[in-house]
Amino acid sequence: MHQATYDLFRKMIQDAGGIALGDDKIPLLRSRIRGRMTKLKLDTPEQYLKQIREDESGRELTHLIDSIATNYTFFFREEQHFNSLKNHVIKLLRKGQKKLRVWSAACSSGEEPYTIAMVVRSAIMELGARDVDAKILATDISTKILREAVAGIYRNEQISRVPPALQQKYFKPLTSGRRECVQVCEELRNMVTFRHLNLNGKTFPMKGPFDAVFCRNVMIYFDEPTRTKLVNRFAHMMADGAPLYVGMTESVMGYCKELPYEEPSVYIKK
Ligand SMILES: C[S@@+](CC[C@H](N)C(=O)[O-])C[C@H]1O[C@@H](n2cnc3c(N)ncnc32)[C@H](O)[C@@H]1O
Repeated sequence: MHQATYDLFRKMIQDAGGIALGDDKIPLLRSRIRGRMTKLKLDTPEQYLKQIREDESGRELTHLIDSIATNYTFFFREEQHFNSLKNHVIKLLRKGQKKLRVWSAACSSGEEPYTIAMVVRSAIMELGARDVDAKILATDISTKILREAVAGIYRNEQISRVPPALQQKYFKPLTSGRRECVQVCEELRNMVTFRHLNLNGKTFPMKGPFDAVFCRNVMIYFDEPTRTKLVNRFAHMMADGAPLYVGMTESVMGYCKELPYEEPSVYIKK
């Protein structure tokens, strides 16, 4: 791929998805777009670029972003965040709060929001709290991965990190066809609303306030201005005292006065 073509792809991906590809990512881009090019019977990256530009529906651009985004995730990833969330939810419930809203802001194939749902549900059950309206908003830029998330179907080995009692309670074996799979039970699926959302988009359709926001292992792909803008947008949609969880290897320290550092990867709305 010529450098000039790469630069055009890079700008397109940056503008549409906020994903900042480094100078050395030509081989990555080439391998990620190969599948679409084969499907569309195109021979060169330049032809593919032209096709994306000419597609006024924007669908091909979505395919491009889908193929670049890394969807790696798993249940109970970075578990300390879920312990912290549970304590926070228990505190809110003890104060008598009846409405709980949590946002999983780059939810990938659903493991993160379903883990949140299990943790929130467990907190409610432990306290015997009644009439609590608990909902999780789960958003991602990839429409392909969102379809998987909505289905909530996982291979048995994918739920191995879920504590056995929660596996029993919230996953049911699929009897027809895919025998080795389980599906998240309806009770949890009803708690989670999946929506397509670009974190680098112009407007967000929701206002909040959210009692917790998870934005983990996605900002690493964004440049610093994009990250700063996003963290400030989160702050406006969070309730006082709400935690923002970022990936364990990420830091947004000093990005927003209203979201000061609490401990590694946790920021609390003031
Ligand atoms: C590595 S996964 C992280 C999933 C989960 N948060 C976790 O920590 O396990 C990153 C996700 O971010 C999504 N993503 C990338 N750029 C995005 C953007 N601009 N807006 C929304 N989601 C984005 C990808 O589609 C992918 O599903």
